[in-house]
Amino acid sequence: MDAAMLKYVLVGGGVAGGYAAREFVKLGVDPGELAIFSKEAVAPYERPALSKAYLFPESPARLPGFHTCVGSGGERQAPEWYADNGIDLHLNSEIAKADTKSKTITTAAGKTFEYGSLLIATGSTFINLADFKTPGADAGGIHYLREVNDADNLVREMKDIKGGEAVVVGGGYIGVELAACLALNSIRVTMVFPDPHFMPRLFTPEIASFYEGYYKGKGINIIKGTSVTAFEKDDQGNVTKVILGDGRSLSTNLVVVGIGAKPRLGPFKGQLEEEKGGFKVDASFRTSAQDVYAVGDVATFPMKMYGDRRRVEHVDHARKSAIQAVQAIKAGEKGETVDEYDYLPFFYSRSFDLSWQFYGDNTGESVIWGLDQAGASGSKFGAYWVNDGKVVGAFLEGGSPDENKLLARVARERPSVGSKQELLSAGLDFATKI
Ligand code: FDA
Ligand code: NAD
Repeated sequence: MDAAMLKYVLVGGGVAGGYAAREFVKLGVDPGELAIFSKEAVAPYERPALSKAYLFPESPARLPGFHTCVGSGGERQAPEWYADNGIDLHLNSEIAKADTKSKTITTAAGKTFEYGSLLIATGSTFINLADFKTPGADAGGIHYLREVNDADNLVREMKDIKGGEAVVVGGGYIGVELAACLALNSIRVTMVFPDPHFMPRLFTPEIASFYEGYYKGKGINIIKGTSVTAFEKDDQGNVTKVILGDGRSLSTNLVVVGIGAKPRLGPFKGQLEEEKGGFKVDASFRTSAQDVYAVGDVATFPMKMYGDRRRVEHVDHARKSAIQAVQAIKAGEKGETVDEYDYLPFFYSRSFDLSWQFYGDNTGESVIWGLDQAGASGSKFGAYWVNDGKVVGAFLEGGSPDENKLLARVARERPSVGSKQELLSAGLDFATKI
């Protein structure tokens, strides 16, 4: 039997999937031309909400409130939006097989489709402690967080153990954001991670010490420099104890693990060139196969500003790469090209009353200003990274939207700076003068 032919196929209904769909609609698709296949049961949504407002004890965020593209001030694309725009949104539809030579994809239920252009937006999945054969890693009450059903399980269990104890494994983005959410739900939290401080890929020890101090002030216990070697469970198979590498053991009712993510290459693995764990793409997100594009977490792309190639696991890039790829597909049909992707890295996080943003590259020497006043009401602190006499990265805690825009400008323009002292005494004023 011949496979049904679809002009455009999007595999993955996450952040990049939602923004790609919007761009297709903006540039024009006829009913039936675009199909989206998503393993999840819900239409594309803004994933960052899952480790923040979704877990709040009061007035939590819930779908349909945070479908894409509300996270960047755009329209909320509820399921009806897809139907109204003639897009076939196949939910609960994992793509299990693909053949980039015959240009076909096959769902787990066995339905095969032929595509004209394919956009892979399958994102990442969490690294599981079971991958390291950690004894007891299959116990009940051990949670990971990637998708809305994971968040629902966690919400249910947080309610059940209110007033109980939790161990958070990992001191990266998930660890730091989840520890705060658990504490807000009146759960006593201990964080455990092997690194010397929070967020070592971005934070300097000085920046981390501010956040760690704040967390301790909220009653969160932080154990650094060791990790989990085993879990103990009760007769029902639920976790009761976390055993650490330094010999300590922690009683617990619940565990949340955030020890990193890995790109989900799925059925495309082995058919496309790979680099740095993702699919190697050009500045228009074209992979090594004809008419196949990859965007978001799964793409390793040329970082024009820094002359290297990177994979980025953050929402801003997921949105922008999706838009770029769709524009490239549509331009190609007219024999035109698009400008090269010229991405400025942008990362952020929020927890408790804290909120930071970072733009650019954290390479070279760091200069931290305002730290002595950090935490005082209305005060801000920040950091610049100086490489080869130029400011290449900027960080700000507690910035207003206008102040955060200044950071982006500094990181984009990479101004020269005379001395470290100049940055230290100017603080945020340095950014206002660019
Ligand atoms: P994303 O993971 O969003 O979507 C992939 C989709 O593809 C999923 O729906 C998945 O089920 C589906 N899929 C996978 N394989 C499939 C297959 N074979 N067939 C069909 N469907 C398939 N970033 C940031 O900058 N700020 C933040 O605050 C946060 N917060 C945050 C919280 C949490 C809990 C997570 C897990 C992540 C973040 N991030 C973040 C990271 C950010 O959300 C992430 O970089 C983007 O969601 C990546 O977008 P993608 O579309 O690439 O993948
Ligand atoms: P991460 O890479 O940010 O942090 C992983 C942490 O786990 C690191 O601190 C690491 O040292 C630690 N770790 C590694 N192995 C460990 C072990 N065996 N035991 C204990 N700790 C260990 O990854 P994450 O926090 O799991 O986040 C997962 C994904 O979600 C990433 O793609 C991240 O970018 C994304 N995310 C982003 C945000 C944001 O941008 N605000 C928020 C949440 C999630």
